[in-house]
Amino acid sequence: MSREVFCRAHPSLALIKYWGKSDSRRNLPATPSLAVTLAGAHTETRVRTAAADCVVLGGEEQPPERYAPFFEALRRRLRTTLRFHAESTNSFPTAAGLASSSSGFAALAAACARAVGSELAARELSALARVGSASAARSLFGGFTLLPARARAARQLLPARHWPELRVLVALASGQPKPISSRQAMEATRSSSPFYRAWLASSGSLLAEAIAGLRSRDLERLGEAARLSYARMHAALLACDPPLLYWLPVTVALVRECAQMRRRGLGAWETIDAGPQVKVLCLAAEAAQIAAGLQEAIDSAQAAGGAQPAGSRILECWPGPAPEVRVEGE
Ligand code: PMV
Repeated sequence: MSREVFCRAHPSLALIKYWGKSDSRRNLPATPSLAVTLAGAHTETRVRTAAADCVVLGGEEQPPERYAPFFEALRRRLRTTLRFHAESTNSFPTAAGLASSSSGFAALAAACARAVGSELAARELSALARVGSASAARSLFGGFTLLPARARAARQLLPARHWPELRVLVALASGQPKPISSRQAMEATRSSSPFYRAWLASSGSLLAEAIAGLRSRDLERLGEAARLSYARMHAALLACDPPLLYWLPVTVALVRECAQMRRRGLGAWETIDAGPQVKVLCLAAEAAQIAAGLQEAIDSAQAAGGAQPAGSRILECWPGPAPEVRVEGE
């Protein structure tokens, strides 16, 4: 039996967003990003060597061209000609806009390296995962992570135990697939949004503010910087030609609900990636109350659109670990 390697990796949620590439061929980010690796959600991947590269996600074979640059970089780095078969599943809906590519490429990099007997350091795996998806560079580390602008690899800034009470409530606003990939949308922002330069220029000060809030466990300070980051990213998108808008009516309802909760004294700070889902930063002590408010906002937005409310749509996450890798058969 050939050696099979298992890896469980967790998605990386950016509080300060990476949006834009400084080098699209090497997939280097144009802005720094600060993220939290999320326990409560994961990708599980099983890899073995095979005659041809193949990635199956949730039972569906993925387009090979999406993975080709990653596998080529992997073979160059590992000095191998071997090819890989990977089967992957996500514990969360793949269309959830939960950065499944971050945990996906992190798990793939870690598992493939081990499948050829390599013990690459996390920073090297991070640089490989980045070729597939820059946010995946961060998922190779647990806790709170930083991927600087133009960097080839991410690093851990603080471990998960720095802030175990932190929670991220993922409000699953919609299961619809996103209309445009983040790669295409980043390129559209660079080439057609007059706000792209302003977005790049403001990313450094937002990062400094967020890091200060994170280090001092000041949720309001971190949350305000995180809000500005996603709002400016989406403002740059809206100013593209033609305009790009990932939000749905339920997205707006959730943003407004968070603002209302803050006015009532609750610490609920939302962020939004390249999709309609809303992720809310809060503390464990208030998580149940905030989750109930978010669920109500989803239910009323659905009722207004004529749809039936559909069960719980809130996933609770918290600062999580680095990927776990093990060899399963020899
Ligand atoms: O890594 P990609 O190509 O999936 O892009 C991720 C972009 C955002 O999720 C919107 C921001 C981020 O830093 O994760």
